[in-house]
Amino acid sequence: MSSQPDPAKLAASRAAVALVRDGMRLGLGTGSTASIMVEVLAERVKAEGLALRCAATSKATAELAGRLGLRVESLDEIGWLDLTIDGADEVDPDLNLIKGGGGAHLREKVVAQASDRMVVIADPGKVVDRLGAFHLPVEVIPFGLEATKVLVGRALERLELSGRPILLRQRDGRPFVTDEGNHILDLALEAIPDAPALARALSAIPGVVEHGLFLGICDLAIIGRPDGSVVELT
Ligand code: A5P
Repeated sequence: MSSQPDPAKLAASRAAVALVRDGMRLGLGTGSTASIMVEVLAERVKAEGLALRCAATSKATAELAGRLGLRVESLDEIGWLDLTIDGADEVDPDLNLIKGGGGAHLREKVVAQASDRMVVIADPGKVVDRLGAFHLPVEVIPFGLEATKVLVGRALERLELSGRPILLRQRDGRPFVTDEGNHILDLALEAIPDAPALARALSAIPGVVEHGLFLGICDLAIIGRPDGSVVELT
């Protein structure tokens, strides 16, 4: 392990990596928790000589996994996955998620939905009663960005979520660019009373590529605790 990992994230990562079987086709998530999981996975592959095929959800994860000796291929080369292990920004009691804090939720959703099973790993701070305190990331194409912002604002108004800021994510003083060459709008909603309705409204806007609501996609959430124990939410 490269540095001293967060013990809760490490515990969740170890429990998730224990689900991996020889010969599996795996989706590798993105973010600080997923990075710890990739390190734990690489150690296990080395120790046990497992033959795995891995598809990464971001350039950053592909680079890390490749550097640690995992066999990384494109999702198209592998075709379909047995299991995806990824982090999350929020997990509710029904295993609905907000993802995209790292700006990778588009590829993360494609990979998760091309998997028989999606397992989320997280620390206790990610568990919420209701989604929405974390800013909801929405990936949008650069073309017509201002018009897309207007349409997103109108959708929020219709759902009585109006008056909330829509922030264009920045990095180094410029709009953040995703692995797919798009930008991210972060919606500061505080609470999302009807997540399916918001998901439908956002998906209906042409300039929106994908939002960070993962509804009905996660099969199991493994919540690590600082003492090294884990709780499974199903
Ligand atoms: C990446 O875009 C996100 O979906 C991450 O999976 C999420 O932000 C969790 O990241 P951390 O594990 O770093 O909190």
